[in-house]
Amino acid sequence: MKEKSDLYNIAVLVSGSGSNLQSVIDNTLDGSVNGRVALVVSDREGAYALKRGENHNIPSYYLKGDPEGLIRLLDSHKIDLVVLAGYLSILPKQVVQAYENRIINIHPSLIPKYCGKGFYGMNVHNAVIAGNEKVSGATVHFVDAGIDTGPIILQETVEITEEDTPETLQQKVLKIEHEILPKGINMVLNQLTKE
Ligand code: GRF
Repeated sequence: MKEKSDLYNIAVLVSGSGSNLQSVIDNTLDGSVNGRVALVVSDREGAYALKRGENHNIPSYYLKGDPEGLIRLLDSHKIDLVVLAGYLSILPKQVVQAYENRIINIHPSLIPKYCGKGFYGMNVHNAVIAGNEKVSGATVHFVDAGIDTGPIILQETVEITEEDTPETLQQKVLKIEHEILPKGINMVLNQLTKE
């Protein structure tokens, strides 16, 4: 276990309920993730994820359409790793460049299937069920200039049964997301050299 001062600073970008954020927070608190959530930023003012950050006294802000402001926030909180967790905006290229190879995302399908423009949230699970797939899952990947196109870090599958609906599939996949996002964060943090 690293000393407190050696812990990496993680920023989590959110838009919704923040169940993935909660999983990351919980895993930093029990020591299984080698870092601390130092910042939460939402592009939706009323996102419950902001409340989750505040519940843990984590600086939590609503910020939208201000790429320079976002970079200033990340820099001022000495962020080592940016995690997109249910974040619905496309990250401006200046942010991707400023934090190149230090931004990761959790996507609720087995990339390269059912990803890219328009594939987010329930849209993904609707398409997977409509596609008569037998498996789905979640993917942790690096964020590059594209949409869901960066190198894959970790994937986990779930079986789809005849009885599954998009809603039951979403719950199965969300459970996997909560398991693989902390693991993916640790894999990246273990590669980072603390500057
Ligand atoms: C969910 O659809 C999840 O699959 C995706 O983002 C959405 C919101 O998740 N990654 P969260 O509860 O806000 O973390």
